[in-house]
Amino acid sequence: MGVSLLSVRGLTRSFYGVQALRGVDFDVAQGTITALIGPNGAGKTTAFQCITGVVPPDGGRVMFDGKDITGWRPDRVAQAGLTRTFQIARGIPRLSVLDNLLLYAANQPGEGVISALLGLGGAAEEAARVRAIEIARRLNLLRVANNPASALSGGQKKLLEIGRALMASPKLVLLDEPIAGVNPTLAEEIAEHLRTLRAEGITFLVIEHHMDLLARLCDPVIVMAEGRTLTEGSFAAVAADPVVQEAYMGRRKWA
Ligand SMILES: Nc1ncnc2c1ncn2[C@@H]1O[C@H](COP(=O)(O)OP(=O)(O)O)[C@@H](O)[C@H]1O
Ligand SMILES: [Mg+2]
Repeated sequence: MGVSLLSVRGLTRSFYGVQALRGVDFDVAQGTITALIGPNGAGKTTAFQCITGVVPPDGGRVMFDGKDITGWRPDRVAQAGLTRTFQIARGIPRLSVLDNLLLYAANQPGEGVISALLGLGGAAEEAARVRAIEIARRLNLLRVANNPASALSGGQKKLLEIGRALMASPKLVLLDEPIAGVNPTLAEEIAEHLRTLRAEGITFLVIEHHMDLLARLCDPVIVMAEGRTLTEGSFAAVAADPVVQEAYMGRRKWA
Protein backbone atom coordinates (compact mmCIF):
# COMPACT_ATOMS: atom_id res chain seq x y z
CA MET A 1 0.00 0.00 0.00
CA GLY A 2 1.10 3.57 -0.67
CA VAL A 3 1.42 6.39 1.86
CA SER A 4 -1.48 6.28 4.30
CA LEU A 5 -3.40 9.55 4.31
CA LEU A 6 -6.11 8.40 6.74
CA SER A 7 -5.70 5.76 9.46
CA VAL A 8 -8.64 4.63 11.56
CA ARG A 9 -7.86 2.42 14.56
CA GLY A 10 -10.21 0.74 17.00
CA LEU A 11 -13.06 3.18 16.37
CA THR A 12 -16.09 2.54 18.62
CA ARG A 13 -19.42 4.34 19.01
CA SER A 14 -22.76 3.41 20.61
CA PHE A 15 -26.16 5.05 20.30
CA TYR A 16 -28.49 4.39 23.25
CA GLY A 17 -26.89 1.01 23.92
CA VAL A 18 -26.72 -0.02 20.24
CA GLN A 19 -23.10 -0.56 19.22
CA ALA A 20 -22.86 1.00 15.76
CA LEU A 21 -19.05 0.72 15.65
CA ARG A 22 -17.32 -2.15 17.47
CA GLY A 23 -13.71 -1.51 16.52
CA VAL A 24 -13.16 -0.23 12.98
CA ASP A 25 -9.65 -0.36 11.50
CA PHE A 26 -8.66 0.76 8.03
CA ASP A 27 -6.26 2.91 6.03
CA VAL A 28 -6.85 5.06 2.98
CA ALA A 29 -3.75 5.39 0.81
CA GLN A 30 -2.94 8.72 -0.79
CA GLY A 31 -4.01 8.98 -4.43
CA THR A 32 -6.67 6.25 -4.31
CA ILE A 33 -10.40 6.17 -4.82
CA THR A 34 -11.10 3.72 -2.01
CA ALA A 35 -14.56 2.17 -1.54
CA LEU A 36 -16.23 1.51 1.80
CA ILE A 37 -18.98 -1.07 1.40
CA GLY A 38 -21.09 -3.27 3.62
CA PRO A 39 -24.71 -4.26 4.28
CA ASN A 40 -27.21 -1.67 5.54
CA GLY A 41 -26.53 -0.84 9.17
CA ALA A 42 -22.87 -1.95 8.98
CA GLY A 43 -21.79 1.41 10.42
CA LYS A 44 -20.38 3.07 7.29
CA THR A 45 -22.12 6.42 7.75
CA THR A 46 -21.35 6.40 11.48
CA ALA A 47 -17.67 5.85 10.63
CA PHE A 48 -17.83 8.97 8.42
CA GLN A 49 -19.54 10.90 11.26
CA CYS A 50 -16.79 9.95 13.71
CA ILE A 51 -13.94 10.64 11.28
CA THR A 52 -15.24 14.12 10.38
CA GLY A 53 -16.16 15.13 13.93
CA VAL A 54 -19.93 15.33 13.40
CA VAL A 55 -20.27 12.69 16.13
CA PRO A 56 -17.41 12.06 18.59
CA PRO A 57 -16.22 8.44 18.80
CA ASP A 58 -16.41 6.65 22.17
CA GLY A 59 -12.96 5.20 21.57
CA GLY A 60 -10.24 4.70 19.00
CA ARG A 61 -8.01 6.97 16.94
CA VAL A 62 -8.28 8.88 13.67
CA MET A 63 -4.99 9.98 12.09
CA PHE A 64 -5.10 12.23 9.03
CA ASP A 65 -2.13 13.60 7.12
CA GLY A 66 0.21 12.98 10.03
CA LYS A 67 -2.08 14.55 12.65
CA ASP A 68 -4.19 12.95 15.35
CA ILE A 69 -7.60 14.49 14.55
CA THR A 70 -9.64 12.30 16.93
CA GLY A 71 -12.59 14.27 18.28
CA TRP A 72 -11.79 17.45 16.30
CA ARG A 73 -14.81 19.53 15.33
CA PRO A 74 -15.94 19.42 11.66
CA ASP A 75 -14.68 22.91 10.77
CA ARG A 76 -11.21 22.13 12.11
CA VAL A 77 -11.16 18.78 10.30
CA ALA A 78 -12.11 20.58 7.07
CA GLN A 79 -9.40 23.18 7.55
CA ALA A 80 -6.91 20.32 7.96
CA GLY A 81 -7.95 19.13 4.46
CA LEU A 82 -10.63 16.49 5.07
CA THR A 83 -14.17 17.20 3.85
CA ARG A 84 -17.26 15.14 3.08
CA THR A 85 -20.63 14.93 1.42
CA PHE A 86 -23.78 13.73 3.17
CA GLN A 87 -26.05 10.84 2.19
CA ILE A 88 -28.93 13.34 2.09
CA ALA A 89 -27.93 16.46 0.14
CA ARG A 90 -27.54 19.41 2.49
CA GLY A 91 -27.72 22.32 0.06
CA ILE A 92 -30.01 25.22 0.91
CA PRO A 93 -32.82 24.95 -1.68
CA ARG A 94 -33.72 28.64 -2.06
CA LEU A 95 -30.12 29.81 -2.51
CA SER A 96 -28.41 29.77 -5.90
CA VAL A 97 -25.88 27.09 -6.79
CA LEU A 98 -23.09 29.67 -6.49
CA ASP A 99 -24.25 30.89 -3.07
CA ASN A 100 -24.48 27.29 -1.89
CA LEU A 101 -20.81 26.89 -2.84
CA LEU A 102 -19.88 30.21 -1.20
CA LEU A 103 -21.45 29.13 2.07
CA TYR A 104 -18.63 26.65 2.37
CA ALA A 105 -15.88 29.13 1.69
CA ALA A 106 -15.27 30.78 5.02
CA ASN A 107 -15.07 28.68 8.15
CA GLN A 108 -15.92 25.44 6.44
CA PRO A 109 -18.10 23.43 6.45
CA GLY A 110 -20.24 25.46 8.64
CA GLU A 111 -22.79 23.83 10.63
CA GLY A 112 -23.31 27.60 11.10
CA VAL A 113 -22.96 28.22 7.39
CA ILE A 114 -24.91 31.45 7.17
CA SER A 115 -22.65 33.21 9.64
CA ALA A 116 -19.70 31.90 7.63
CA LEU A 117 -20.99 33.71 4.55
CA LEU A 118 -21.68 36.91 6.44
CA GLY A 119 -18.16 36.81 7.84
CA LEU A 120 -16.62 37.08 4.40
CA GLY A 121 -15.78 40.41 2.89
CA GLY A 122 -13.60 42.21 0.35
CA ALA A 123 -10.69 40.20 -1.03
CA ALA A 124 -11.68 37.01 0.81
CA GLU A 125 -15.15 37.08 -0.70
CA GLU A 126 -13.74 37.78 -4.15
CA ALA A 127 -11.29 34.85 -3.87
CA ALA A 128 -14.11 32.58 -2.70
CA ARG A 129 -16.30 33.69 -5.61
CA VAL A 130 -13.54 32.92 -8.11
CA ARG A 131 -13.10 29.48 -6.57
CA ALA A 132 -16.86 28.82 -6.52
CA ILE A 133 -17.13 29.72 -10.23
CA GLU A 134 -14.16 27.51 -11.06
CA ILE A 135 -15.68 24.56 -9.18
CA ALA A 136 -19.08 25.13 -10.84
CA ARG A 137 -17.33 25.15 -14.23
CA ARG A 138 -15.40 21.96 -13.43
CA LEU A 139 -18.59 20.14 -12.43
CA ASN A 140 -20.62 21.33 -15.42
CA LEU A 141 -22.82 23.44 -13.13
CA LEU A 142 -21.85 26.84 -14.53
CA ARG A 143 -24.88 27.22 -16.77
CA VAL A 144 -27.17 26.66 -13.75
CA ALA A 145 -24.96 28.61 -11.31
CA ASN A 146 -27.54 31.34 -10.70
CA ASN A 147 -30.52 28.97 -10.44
CA PRO A 148 -31.83 28.00 -7.02
CA ALA A 149 -30.46 24.66 -5.81
CA SER A 150 -34.06 23.40 -5.64
CA ALA A 151 -34.26 23.60 -9.46
CA LEU A 152 -31.38 21.13 -9.96
CA SER A 153 -31.91 17.54 -11.06
CA GLY A 154 -31.13 14.80 -8.53
CA GLY A 155 -27.76 14.18 -10.16
CA GLN A 156 -26.89 17.89 -10.24
CA LYS A 157 -27.67 18.08 -6.51
CA LYS A 158 -25.12 15.31 -5.99
CA LEU A 159 -22.60 17.32 -8.03
CA LEU A 160 -23.33 20.41 -5.92
CA GLU A 161 -22.65 18.36 -2.78
CA ILE A 162 -19.28 17.36 -4.22
CA GLY A 163 -18.64 20.99 -5.17
CA ARG A 164 -19.32 22.11 -1.61
CA ALA A 165 -16.82 19.54 -0.33
CA LEU A 166 -14.21 20.88 -2.81
CA MET A 167 -14.48 24.51 -1.66
CA ALA A 168 -11.96 24.00 1.18
CA SER A 169 -9.27 22.66 -1.23
CA PRO A 170 -9.28 19.26 0.51
CA LYS A 171 -6.69 16.48 0.32
CA LEU A 172 -9.28 13.81 1.16
CA VAL A 173 -13.02 13.81 0.44
CA LEU A 174 -15.43 11.31 1.99
CA LEU A 175 -18.45 10.68 -0.26
CA ASP A 176 -21.58 9.10 1.23
CA GLU A 177 -23.46 7.44 -1.67
CA PRO A 178 -22.57 10.03 -4.33
CA ILE A 179 -24.49 8.31 -7.14
CA ALA A 180 -27.44 6.80 -5.26
CA GLY A 181 -30.64 7.58 -7.18
CA VAL A 182 -28.73 9.16 -10.08
CA ASN A 183 -29.44 8.10 -13.67
CA PRO A 184 -26.73 5.93 -15.29
CA THR A 185 -25.45 8.67 -17.66
CA LEU A 186 -24.92 11.18 -14.87
CA ALA A 187 -23.49 8.45 -12.64
CA GLU A 188 -20.80 7.88 -15.29
CA GLU A 189 -20.21 11.64 -15.46
CA ILE A 190 -19.78 11.85 -11.67
CA ALA A 191 -17.36 8.91 -11.80
CA GLU A 192 -15.37 10.69 -14.51
CA HIS A 193 -15.21 13.87 -12.38
CA LEU A 194 -13.83 11.80 -9.49
CA ARG A 195 -11.16 10.26 -11.75
CA THR A 196 -10.11 13.71 -12.97
CA LEU A 197 -9.98 15.14 -9.44
CA ARG A 198 -7.99 12.11 -8.29
CA ALA A 199 -5.50 12.69 -11.10
CA GLU A 200 -5.09 16.21 -9.73
CA GLY A 201 -4.16 14.86 -6.32
CA ILE A 202 -7.40 14.50 -4.35
CA THR A 203 -7.95 11.19 -2.54
CA PHE A 204 -11.48 9.79 -2.11
CA LEU A 205 -13.19 7.38 0.26
CA VAL A 206 -16.56 6.43 -1.21
CA ILE A 207 -19.58 4.69 0.32
CA GLU A 208 -21.60 3.24 -2.59
CA HIS A 209 -23.65 0.22 -3.45
CA HIS A 210 -23.56 0.37 -7.25
CA MET A 211 -21.21 -2.57 -7.58
CA ASP A 212 -20.71 -2.39 -11.34
CA LEU A 213 -19.48 1.19 -11.07
CA LEU A 214 -17.36 0.51 -7.98
CA ALA A 215 -15.66 -2.33 -9.81
CA ARG A 216 -14.46 0.15 -12.44
CA LEU A 217 -13.85 3.18 -10.19
CA CYS A 218 -12.49 2.03 -6.84
CA ASP A 219 -9.35 0.26 -5.68
CA PRO A 220 -9.09 -0.96 -3.00
CA VAL A 221 -12.46 -1.90 -1.50
CA ILE A 222 -12.89 -2.00 2.30
CA VAL A 223 -15.77 -4.14 3.60
CA MET A 224 -17.57 -3.42 6.88
CA ALA A 225 -20.20 -5.56 8.62
CA GLU A 226 -21.83 -5.23 12.04
CA GLY A 227 -19.63 -2.34 13.14
CA ARG A 228 -16.31 -3.91 12.18
CA THR A 229 -13.94 -3.99 9.26
CA LEU A 230 -14.26 -7.39 7.61
CA THR A 231 -11.64 -7.35 4.89
CA GLU A 232 -9.96 -5.25 2.24
CA GLY A 233 -8.71 -5.90 -1.27
CA SER A 234 -9.36 -5.45 -4.96
CA PHE A 235 -13.02 -5.48 -6.00
CA ALA A 236 -12.60 -8.92 -7.59
CA ALA A 237 -10.92 -10.41 -4.51
CA VAL A 238 -13.49 -8.97 -2.12
CA ALA A 239 -16.46 -10.04 -4.28
CA ALA A 240 -15.11 -13.62 -4.40
CA ASP A 241 -14.48 -13.77 -0.63
CA PRO A 242 -16.90 -16.25 1.07
CA VAL A 243 -16.73 -14.20 4.31
CA VAL A 244 -18.00 -11.14 2.41
CA GLN A 245 -20.71 -13.15 0.65
CA GLU A 246 -21.80 -14.49 4.04
CA ALA A 247 -22.04 -10.96 5.45
CA TYR A 248 -24.39 -10.02 2.63
CA MET A 249 -26.49 -13.21 2.83
CA GLY A 250 -30.16 -12.52 3.10
CA ARG A 251 -29.62 -8.84 2.44
CA ARG A 252 -31.77 -7.06 -0.05
CA LYS A 253 -28.86 -5.29 -1.68
CA TRP A 254 -25.26 -4.37 -1.31
CA ALA A 255 -25.27 -1.04 0.43
N1 LIG B 1 -27.76 9.05 15.37
C1 LIG B 1 -28.09 7.77 15.62
N2 LIG B 1 -28.90 7.43 16.63
C2 LIG B 1 -29.21 6.14 16.88
N3 LIG B 1 -28.74 5.10 16.18
C3 LIG B 1 -27.93 5.36 15.14
C4 LIG B 1 -27.55 6.71 14.79
N4 LIG B 1 -26.73 6.66 13.71
C5 LIG B 1 -26.61 5.34 13.40
N5 LIG B 1 -27.31 4.57 14.25
C6 LIG B 1 -27.38 3.09 14.22
O1 LIG B 1 -26.07 2.60 14.01
C7 LIG B 1 -26.07 1.49 13.13
C8 LIG B 1 -25.19 1.78 11.92
O2 LIG B 1 -25.83 2.75 11.10
P1 LIG B 1 -25.13 3.46 9.87
O3 LIG B 1 -23.79 3.94 10.28
O4 LIG B 1 -26.08 4.46 9.35
O5 LIG B 1 -24.97 2.23 8.85
P2 LIG B 1 -24.72 2.23 7.27
O6 LIG B 1 -24.35 3.61 6.83
O7 LIG B 1 -23.62 1.22 7.08
O8 LIG B 1 -26.00 1.74 6.65
C9 LIG B 1 -27.52 1.22 12.78
O9 LIG B 1 -28.00 0.24 13.68
C10 LIG B 1 -28.18 2.56 13.04
O10 LIG B 1 -29.53 2.40 13.38
MG1 LIG C 1 -25.25 4.98 5.42
